[in-house]
Amino acid sequence: MNGIRIAPSILAWDLGDLEKAVEISVRGGADQIHLDVIDGHFAPNITFGAGTVKALRPRTDLKFDTHLMIENPQAYVEKFLDAGSDIITFHAEVLNGGSFDELQRVVRGRGREVGLAFKPKTEVPRWALDRLDKISTLVVMTVNPGFSGQTLDPSVLPKVQQVREYIEEKGLGTDIEVDGGVEPENVHEVVRRGGNVLVAGAGVYGKKDPVGAIAALRERAESARRKL
Ligand code: DX5
Ligand code: ZN
Repeated sequence: MNGIRIAPSILAWDLGDLEKAVEISVRGGADQIHLDVIDGHFAPNITFGAGTVKALRPRTDLKFDTHLMIENPQAYVEKFLDAGSDIITFHAEVLNGGSFDELQRVVRGRGREVGLAFKPKTEVPRWALDRLDKISTLVVMTVNPGFSGQTLDPSVLPKVQQVREYIEEKGLGTDIEVDGGVEPENVHEVVRRGGNVLVAGAGVYGKKDPVGAIAALRERAESARRKL
């Protein structure tokens, strides 16, 4: 299994001061920054787009993990590549094998990584399992897409475990990112089920000491890992 990585979600910070959100992630030693792009169609919120990603790009060398919760990723993928996204995650609900293949060719053609995300109630489709060698990260959402600050739905954790077992069986190095409601209190269980990339919005930016919260999450995750 790949190492633990902490990915703070800047959606949980003051959207008028995202530069500060990036600075907190850098100072806290985050591994990557999670950028939640929502279009008001795929999920009931509108956040920010490629222009914001581009504006933040010069602020850090940390990987930009761009989570596209949008209905028409084909129309925008190039913009997010141009903006400097390192990982671009698409949602399985708006794709099939063929449309995924086209998108992944575009992303990998530019030397970037592809993620594939699932809403809490979405089972991982066959076409996705058949293409795991082209996917660097499976993003299992543990809240409904839209907002930071929701509670992790524990009924999704068996899905994390199933995909982890499948990946291990096949001997693949796919990361499993758990996104939604990750907090110090549930990190142990998330890691035990097989998550290794932990997104945390409120779990970092909602804390009194967000810089320290990143290290605290990592410490808990590493300790859970050692007990596996
Ligand atoms: C929800 C987003 C999540 C969310 C994470 O639509 O995909 O990344 O912002 O925030 P928390 O950790 O607060 O649930
Ligand atoms: Zn997200």
